[in-house]
Amino acid sequence: MAEWIHTVTARTPTNIAVIKYWGKRDESLILPVNDSISVTLDPQHLCTTTTVAVSPSFDQDRMWLNGKEISLSGGRYQNCLREIRARGEDFEDKEKGIKIAKQDWQKLRVHVASYNNFPTAAGLASSAAGLACLVFALAKLMNAKEDASQLSAIARQGSGSACRSLYGGFVKWIMGKEVNGSDSLAVQLADENHWDDLVIIIAVVSSRQKETSSTTGMRDTVETSILLQHRAREVVPKRIVKMEEAIRNRNFSLFAQLACADSNQFHAVCLDTCPPIFYMNDTSHRIISCIEKWNRFEESPQVAYTFDAGPNAVLIARNRKTAALLLQRLLYFFPPSADTDMGSYVLGDKSILKDAGVEGINDVQALPPPPEIKDNVPAQRNGGEVSYFICTRPGRGPLLLSDESLALLDHSTGLPK
Ligand code: DP6
Repeated sequence: MAEWIHTVTARTPTNIAVIKYWGKRDESLILPVNDSISVTLDPQHLCTTTTVAVSPSFDQDRMWLNGKEISLSGGRYQNCLREIRARGEDFEDKEKGIKIAKQDWQKLRVHVASYNNFPTAAGLASSAAGLACLVFALAKLMNAKEDASQLSAIARQGSGSACRSLYGGFVKWIMGKEVNGSDSLAVQLADENHWDDLVIIIAVVSSRQKETSSTTGMRDTVETSILLQHRAREVVPKRIVKMEEAIRNRNFSLFAQLACADSNQFHAVCLDTCPPIFYMNDTSHRIISCIEKWNRFEESPQVAYTFDAGPNAVLIARNRKTAALLLQRLLYFFPPSADTDMGSYVLGDKSILKDAGVEGINDVQALPPPPEIKDNVPAQRNGGEVSYFICTRPGRGPLLLSDESLALLDHSTGLPK
């Protein structure tokens, strides 16, 4: 009998923190110095798809990321693999002649193929979606009975922010207090339907600068920043309570005020690190000014901004109408270069372009300056600073894909298709 191959394919979203995780109290278990809260982004626009396969014919664990083979020998991958293997249960598929006993998972080797539906080079949290997807897919493959929170504690050991990608909607990573990390896990605060007015626009900022990785950056911060200690002990605990309240009551003003303040404090903590870390650039700062001016002009927040360990802006608009006004402003200040077509400059949910009345490059050129800058010196329009925008919204959590055509590994060879 030909040796069987058992495969599972899953899709997992990325997430953006609105109260940031920055700093570990335990490096190897990945235990944070404070709680954090995130919004899961719609996987239709930003997600990782992963196929995992197991077969007695495989002689080593192997992984391919976006078609290229990468090593699985890193400690973080190994921790996730080990944790899931230890939780595998008996599995049987009589039709395919597959029978795996609980203890077999330790010796069976796996193949993993992973693909991001967004450019990895854009500096969007690909490790969060990737590690969450690996853990989720392996758990299904090995018939582990753990729930999403228990899986989040395993994904956490792959990359901290990954634990928040095990749920849709609004998610809190509880820092926990146990030394072994068993209570450091994610819980869902509200699902993606709870606050479905929100629209998210990501500005992918052009930058060639090599950035400090989150892992190294936060290690330096923990070692050198006094501000971080104040943030973790005094500021974040109070903000977490308020952010939960803002989400529960769909209070956009409070939500925006907290998200912006927390992003700014995270970057202040980076600046307080020795040597200082600069993740935002001039374009990021220009985007902040544009939002701040507008919010002030309207006398209540219309849009929240937040920036991770890079210059890209994640902008959260209170509803579709505000999102259209936001897109007009973004295209006014950051127009595409003359030879770019709008279809490749605004990605994701393109219907917002229509709402904004900017379907072609001529519409962009005809945009009037936004009213909040009218009295000032002529506004600067900064073509070329933004690579593209992605329009999206809060989205659902991990999903199993049963359609065989979506699998990334061939079901007869176990190799990438
Ligand atoms: C700025 O989860 O990438 O995005 O745990 O070392 O893998 P490791 O770091 P990572 O850090 C993310 C930091 C952040 C804020 C956040 O997502 O909360």
